Amino acid sequence: MTSRRSFVSGMAAAGFGATAMFRTSAIGSLFRANAIAGERSPEEVAEDESYWAEIQRAFDVDRTMINLNNGGISPSPTHVLDAMIRDLKFTNELPVEHMWRVLEPRIESVRRDLARELGCDPEEMAITRNASEANEIMIFGLDLKRGDEVVVSNQNYGRMLTAWDQRVRREGIVLKQVSFKVPPPSQKYIVDQFTAAVTPNTRVIELPHITNLTGQIMPIRELVDFARPRGIQVLVDGAHAFAHFPFKLDDLGADYYGTSLHKWLLAPIGTGFLYVRKDKQKNLWPLMAAAATQNEDIRKYEEIGTHPAANHNAISAALAFHRGIGADRKIARLRYLRDRWAKRLLGESPRVKVLTPLDSKYSGAIGLVSIDGLEFGKLGEWLMSKHRIVNTPILHPEFNGLRITPNVYTTIDEIDTFADKMTVAIKKGIA
Ligand SMILES: Cc1ncc(COP(=O)(O)O)c(C=O)c1O
Repeated sequence: MTSRRSFVSGMAAAGFGATAMFRTSAIGSLFRANAIAGERSPEEVAEDESYWAEIQRAFDVDRTMINLNNGGISPSPTHVLDAMIRDLKFTNELPVEHMWRVLEPRIESVRRDLARELGCDPEEMAITRNASEANEIMIFGLDLKRGDEVVVSNQNYGRMLTAWDQRVRREGIVLKQVSFKVPPPSQKYIVDQFTAAVTPNTRVIELPHITNLTGQIMPIRELVDFARPRGIQVLVDGAHAFAHFPFKLDDLGADYYGTSLHKWLLAPIGTGFLYVRKDKQKNLWPLMAAAATQNEDIRKYEEIGTHPAANHNAISAALAFHRGIGADRKIARLRYLRDRWAKRLLGESPRVKVLTPLDSKYSGAIGLVSIDGLEFGKLGEWLMSKHRIVNTPILHPEFNGLRITPNVYTTIDEIDTFADKMTVAIKKGIA
C-alpha cells in the first residue's frame, strides 16, 4: 500500500517522466482513490464502490451499451488516449524529425518500464503491435524440420493454431492437439494431458497463460520444469494475462512470452510485447528480416518498417495507471465482479453451468456460462439486440457458452443489469 501511495505521489511530483503525460484528472482519480482505499486489503477495496467510481471517472466510455467483452479489446483511460493523440499531432507536424528523431527513441523508456513490470532485463523486451505478432515471431521463428513435433491444446487461440497449421502444410512438422476438461479437476490434470502427448520427437509446447475461452489459468511453471531438461521449448501466449492478474517472469520460468497490451493493460490499440530470454535470441528468427549484426539484439523483432511512435509510447501512461491501481487490487476487483454475476446465476437454477473455476487462483475476470435448455447463440443475440449487453458466444467442439468479461471501469449496475436479464432468460425464456 505504502509503495503504491508513494508511487502515485512520486508520479505527480515528477510529471511522470518524459514519455507519459498524465491528465490532471487521471492523477486526481488515483489520488482520491488511494485516499479512499487507505490501508485496507485488496479484497475489502474490491467491494467499495466509492474507490472504483474514481477509477471509472478516468475513462470516457460510451455507456449506452454494457460492454462485457473486455476480453476482446478494452478502451484506454482518457489520459492514455490523450498522450497518444498529442504525439500523433506532434508527429504530423514534421514526421521525419518529430517522429523518427524525437518520439521513436522514447521506445527505450517503454522497454525499460515493461521490463520492470514483467521482471526481466530490458534487453529481453521487444515492443510489438499485438499478441498475434509476438506469438507468430515465436511460432515461425524457431527452426524445425519435417517430423518434429509440437504439442498444443485445442483451447489455444485460433490464430496461433492456424500459424502452426501453416508450418504443418509448408514444412511437414507434426502438430498434436491435447484436450482438457473445463473446468479441469486440478492443475496437475492439465499438466498430465500435455506431458502424455510428448514423445522423443517433441521440440515445442505452445499454450496460453490463460485461455480466452473459459479463462482457465494454465500451469506454465510445471510445464516449463517438465520441458526444459528434455530440450523442449515452451512458448507462452500471454495475450490475456499481463496486467490481468499479478505474476512475474520468475514465477513462470518461461523463455518466450508474448502478450497484447490493448486488453488488460488498457494501452492504446495496436500494442503488445515479446519477451525472449537473452540466450534464446540468437536462434529465434524475426518475422521481418533483420541484419546479421542484430542477431543477438532484441530490437531485431522491431524491424517492421515505418509505424507510429505515438501508440507504443503511450504504453507507459497505461502502465503508470495500472501501477497506480495496483495489480493486487485490480485482480481482487475483477474476481469480485465475476463472482457477483456468476454466483448469483448459479444460485438461480441448477441449469446454470459456469465452466470457469470459481474460488480459485486459476481464474480472473473471464467467466464462461451456459444454461441448459437455452441455445447460447440465441441467448447472446437476445442480450445484445434487446438489452444492448455486449457478450461473446464461445463455440468449441467440446463445450460452449457466453463469455463475460468486465474490466476496471465496469460498474456494479452494469453487472447487475446483466444478471437481471439472465435471470429473466432462465425463468421465462427468451422467446
Ligand atoms: C489467447 C489469445 N492469444 C492471442 C490473441 C491475439 O491477440 P491480438 O488480437 O491482440 O493480437 C488473443 C486475442 O483475443 C487471445 O485471446
